[in-house]
Amino acid sequence: MQAQARAQPNIALIKYWGKRDLERNLPAVGSISVTLADLYSTMRVTVDPSLPEDVLLVNGDASRSMLARVSACMDQVAGGPRPAARVDSSSNFPIAAGLASSASAFAALTLAADAAFGSNRTEHELVNLAGRASGSAARSMLGGFVELENRDHEVAVSSLLEPEQWPLQVVVAITAPGPKPVSSGDAMEISRKTSPFYDRWIEQQSEDLGEARAAIHDRDLQRLGAVAEHNCLKMHSVMWGARPPLSYWNSATVACMQTIRDLQAQGMEVFFTIDAGPQLKAICAPPDVTAVRDALRTTAGVADVMVSGIGTGARLIAA
Ligand code: PMV
Repeated sequence: MQAQARAQPNIALIKYWGKRDLERNLPAVGSISVTLADLYSTMRVTVDPSLPEDVLLVNGDASRSMLARVSACMDQVAGGPRPAARVDSSSNFPIAAGLASSASAFAALTLAADAAFGSNRTEHELVNLAGRASGSAARSMLGGFVELENRDHEVAVSSLLEPEQWPLQVVVAITAPGPKPVSSGDAMEISRKTSPFYDRWIEQQSEDLGEARAAIHDRDLQRLGAVAEHNCLKMHSVMWGARPPLSYWNSATVACMQTIRDLQAQGMEVFFTIDAGPQLKAICAPPDVTAVRDALRTTAGVADVMVSGIGTGARLIAA
């Protein structure tokens, strides 16, 4: 059996940072994201009982580093003994660099594995299985503006707005395409155990979620930008306060923030967010996207700029 699925990364506007259950990989907080349209990961799962063990190819090259996580995800989806499989993964953007490639990859893998192994999981199970592999992957199962809610022993995702209901644009400024030095999972645990700001971060999250939900409901870009920037900078402050301190930024990340501040000072409705990596994502309305893209492209230290609309959730595609 063979199945193929495609999913796009999502960019968190209200961040997931911290785990409350390591074994189930349950987040300590709810989060809100937008799913992108133009960056994607495709995962093909080919069941092959003749293989001695699973094989993972990333953009055509054998990869051992991610194999254990990929195999564990397929084990969870299959839910019992299963034959070995070959997994072909490809992404049209830099992976493991704070661009949420794990979100798109594990959302697509969960769907493809379910179809290839004939597991017939419900949508709710698939969301939780994707989230178990990578917390943010649960959100890439849906399109548009997505809220992830933290329930007792599980997560639930819902769509706050479909992509066409608020077709914003996301400009990604790539300042360093290489893999990140510390995985987000490790960094979350260091934050939880050592940062004096961690508990306040957790306490304040529901307030930020409520504010973002209302701004999305009203399609109020300025209000959404204010709470999203606040939430992002708070998450990074938790990391800066950790021991050892965690900083994913480089000088170009800071220069990009200044570029966005300058555009805001000129009256443009645009805001930024930064995840566990040095790339900056700017969000704006379609008429401003060229100006935002050009301003970020000419910011010192920016290697590349990618533009994406807001897209749909993970889906099976012809293998
Ligand atoms: O899903 P993970 O384990 O890669 O963690 C994602 C963490 C952030 O991207 C920084 C925030 C988020 O909500 O996506």
